[in-house]
Amino acid sequence: MRVLTGIQPSGDLHIGNYFGTIKQMVEAQKTNETFAFIANYHAMTSVLDGDRLSQLTMQCATDFLALGINPDKSTFWVQSDVKEVLELYWILSSYTPMGLLERAHSYKDKTARGIASNHSLFSYPVLMAADILLFGSEVVPVGKDQIQHVEIARDIATKFNNQYGDILTIPEFRVQEEVQTVPGIDGQKMSKSYGNIVNIFGEEKKQMKTIKKIVTENVAMEEPKEFENCNVYNMAKLFLEGNNLIELQKRYKRGGEGHGHFKIYLGEVMWEYFKEYREKREYFANNQDEVREILNIGASKAREIALPTIEKIRSVTGISY
Ligand code: ADP
Ligand code: TRP
Repeated sequence: MRVLTGIQPSGDLHIGNYFGTIKQMVEAQKTNETFAFIANYHAMTSVLDGDRLSQLTMQCATDFLALGINPDKSTFWVQSDVKEVLELYWILSSYTPMGLLERAHSYKDKTARGIASNHSLFSYPVLMAADILLFGSEVVPVGKDQIQHVEIARDIATKFNNQYGDILTIPEFRVQEEVQTVPGIDGQKMSKSYGNIVNIFGEEKKQMKTIKKIVTENVAMEEPKEFENCNVYNMAKLFLEGNNLIELQKRYKRGGEGHGHFKIYLGEVMWEYFKEYREKREYFANNQDEVREILNIGASKAREIALPTIEKIRSVTGISY
């Protein structure tokens, strides 16, 4: 199975990105043909500072490698190193009805939150469709918020194929049921663009400070507490299994502890969980040339795979003449 996902280098990677996508990708590497890329063109919808975008692109690549994307198993590259994706983006634009984009939740949510609405934000799903379709992806692991974008890619591909035959592979999304949407510290979807993240590789004290800001119900210390809708619990459960999870539920129900205690516990569990990854990250952070080399090789591999598809598309659409 050909599995592909991308992530925007628009800020520090957070635990929503990890459990929503990265972890699935690392698992998928074991038995699939996997493609992972850093979506730096997409990040331009929110990062318009050149120095910052290039710095975040390398940071994101470093983090991906630390978290287990293995370049021997996955094709791993930076989106802008395979320019054919922009060509396909334009071609697909002519197969994208305006109404399809006008219905996109992500665009509506972002503009409702005051993010400036511009053309790239609006046409974002078409570039994402190009990412997916250029590589013949069959499965796209994403967080729940991105399902609609994969559906848009399916619609565009279907429209294209209706005219020219079975050229594009129709992709399917894959969402980790038990993860779905990881809440941010304000209880909304955790997102780099919403300023509510708990990042993966923060400094220990800062991490704890962020965790202490997680919004919780106001219940007296001695009272039993609800865990189902608690933002702290909903983050902690991502890191816990079996008895450890049941024990945390009991602590909520028992009363006698405040949310502050659960926050400290969450901080500790999380710190431990990412320990091994922090060590790997340090290695790649100190060997940035190696990271660049990995990305170059990845881009060549990705382009080789993309070329037959884009050539076929140029031919049927009359762009090659
Ligand atoms: P962000 O919203 O922080 O900018 P991205 O849009 O770059 O994150 O998302 C990268 C991947 O991580 C996507 O597949 C997305 O669905 C997933 N993801 C992002 N936030 C969450 C979340 N809060 N819960 C689950 N998955 C998420
Ligand atoms: N839009 C995705 C997100 O914000 C990132 C992305 C870009 C992507 N291109 C992709 C994800 C292709 C999967 C497949 O999360």
